[in-house]
Amino acid sequence: MPIHRSGFFISFEGIDGAGKSTHLEAFANHLRQRYPQQEIVLTREPGGTPLGEKLRQLLLQEPMHIETEALLMFAARREHLAQVIEPALQSGKIVISDRFTDASFAYQGGGRGLSLETLNTLETLVQRRGADLIQPNLTLLFDLPGHVAQERRSKARTPDKFERLDLDFFEKVRNEYLRRAKSDPGRFVVIDAQQSPERIWKHLSEIQLNY
Ligand code: TYD
Repeated sequence: MPIHRSGFFISFEGIDGAGKSTHLEAFANHLRQRYPQQEIVLTREPGGTPLGEKLRQLLLQEPMHIETEALLMFAARREHLAQVIEPALQSGKIVISDRFTDASFAYQGGGRGLSLETLNTLETLVQRRGADLIQPNLTLLFDLPGHVAQERRSKARTPDKFERLDLDFFEKVRNEYLRRAKSDPGRFVVIDAQQSPERIWKHLSEIQLNY
């Protein structure tokens, strides 16, 4: 149960190459028009704070033990919650984060094989407030097959540490995202990222925030 009743917390998720970052900005503009009184904060993970951005550099470039990777993801997240997300939600803002904890379950869990138990422990440590866990109110998952994402990535950019991983890794990441979406249908909206940008945009523009 989300405990921040005044603000609204949205996360964008998907495997690398699904196009989520492109749609995030357009979705933010849509919300600015739909909720003109609300301030919108755009942020990202890993990152979102000066320390988090330093950790991001390390996480996306340096090889490290899988548990180190998970610990640093959650360390960056702890700082992000304290400095950015929680203050914004408490003052009634809409927060849109390019990735949040589902990415840790999908990449470090599904992709790399870190146990669910370890991830649940880290999630509880970092996100528990009283009896509740801080979670997004809404998560938009941009879904597409690993090979399509790989094809798109190869055209678009120089790969970082994660983007260099193989197809099998990305299929596992995708499956874990889909498993989580299925287990929490009230929070997730799954968007077929193979559709045309126009269709995706239409879908996004129909989304209402259920405060
Ligand atoms: P991404 O959000 O895709 O940024 P860009 O569009 O600039 O490449 O990159 C972040 C990478 O970090 C992505 O490959 C997923 C990975 N990641 C994790 O492995 N675990 C996490 O908890 C988070 C937040 C991200």
